[in-house]
Amino acid sequence: MRFSRIKRLRGEIAVPGDKSISHRAVMFGALADGTTEITNFLRGADCLSTISCFRQMGVSIKEGNGTVTIQGKGLYGLSAPSSWLDTGNSGTTTRLISGILSGQPFESVVNGDSSIQTRPMNRIIQPLSQMGAHITSLRGNGCAPLRIQGTGLHAIHYESPVASAQVKSSILLAGLYADGPTTVTEPYLSRNHSEIMLRMFGADVTSSGATVTIQPAPSLTGQRIHVPGDISSAAYFLAAGLIVPDSEILIKHVGVNPTRDGVLRVFREMGGDITLLNEKTDSGEPTADLLVRTSDLHGVTIGGSIIPTLIDEIPIIAVLACFARGTTIIKNAQELKVKESNRIDVMVKNLSAMGAHIRATDDGMIIEGGHPLRGALIDSRLDHRIAMSFAIAALAADGETEIKGADCVTISYPGFYEDLETLM
Ligand code: S3P
Repeated sequence: MRFSRIKRLRGEIAVPGDKSISHRAVMFGALADGTTEITNFLRGADCLSTISCFRQMGVSIKEGNGTVTIQGKGLYGLSAPSSWLDTGNSGTTTRLISGILSGQPFESVVNGDSSIQTRPMNRIIQPLSQMGAHITSLRGNGCAPLRIQGTGLHAIHYESPVASAQVKSSILLAGLYADGPTTVTEPYLSRNHSEIMLRMFGADVTSSGATVTIQPAPSLTGQRIHVPGDISSAAYFLAAGLIVPDSEILIKHVGVNPTRDGVLRVFREMGGDITLLNEKTDSGEPTADLLVRTSDLHGVTIGGSIIPTLIDEIPIIAVLACFARGTTIIKNAQELKVKESNRIDVMVKNLSAMGAHIRATDDGMIIEGGHPLRGALIDSRLDHRIAMSFAIAALAADGETEIKGADCVTISYPGFYEDLETLM
């Protein structure tokens, strides 16, 4: 796919539903008693992997008229899958489902695509094993495929070495099946969608700072969930609106949960003109319309507790930094190395190919902004967030950019290129 400089971007857009919230709505709905109805569900490949895994365990999930309807099987109603569960490219599906499977009275195997088979699973194998689950990495490398023999689980207090909502949520879901209260403490608070939604489904979840405790649940109750727009998807249009001249874009109904809104804080700190309008709450999640206008930008330093709140947006923040005066330093972001691709490596290689002044550090990158970008051949490494970031960079670069593997955006945003075109 090829992209080149455009004059302006103008108009209104609604990005698809939040990926993290869509996954959780399906999982909790499957484990609840009664019916769960999800609207504005993200029909991206990752969330469809979650649906197909639960269908394999006997859960009826129907899609129609923009609504996903789930007939929950209850906490103890899942059937043993007759074949391996395929989580595709989805880390969230793989890690969260492993927590659920740890509490089931059957054996299962979880596997995904070649990217999933390289992503670290010891981070969940360890705590879930401490709770009593028997989990084997079939290749002995700490990655999927994982064989999981569920059992009655013990409650633990787990001090997680990483701020990871996937690790936290995996343990909390296992905690539904434990013999007492299960607690997770993180170095910094990661996204709290599981906590918010589990409470809606009737679980007893309490939070204090970066510590969360769940009580074993007798049952969950089906809910109506309206999924807010994904701020991680909105971030590409925010960046485009800021760097393409003479632009003004209104992005409707975006989730602005404070554990996810770091990108708004950073873009504004860089000088970005972004206004929040029409602020509301939807299924326990704060939402707003975001109005963005072309701005003069300057570099920033980001690190520490803000990192988990913008971890998926660092590729597009790095793009923005190339258009900002001065230096941008991104630190404490070593988690980028174990995402769908090594995002430090891939961003530095591809932005360097476009002429950016950027270098990798052990835990992030340093970018000297203000050097014009030129079109280049970009290898997305089939990482959806890389492909979208470079489609945006290309709109404010000289010459033509070609993106290899551009179709991988279907993981989180199937209509991305079409939506972008409506603003041109
Ligand atoms: C997610 C958590 C984050 C994020 C991922 C989605 C989730 O991963 O990068 O895209 O839905 O819980 P980590 O938990 O590995 O930080």
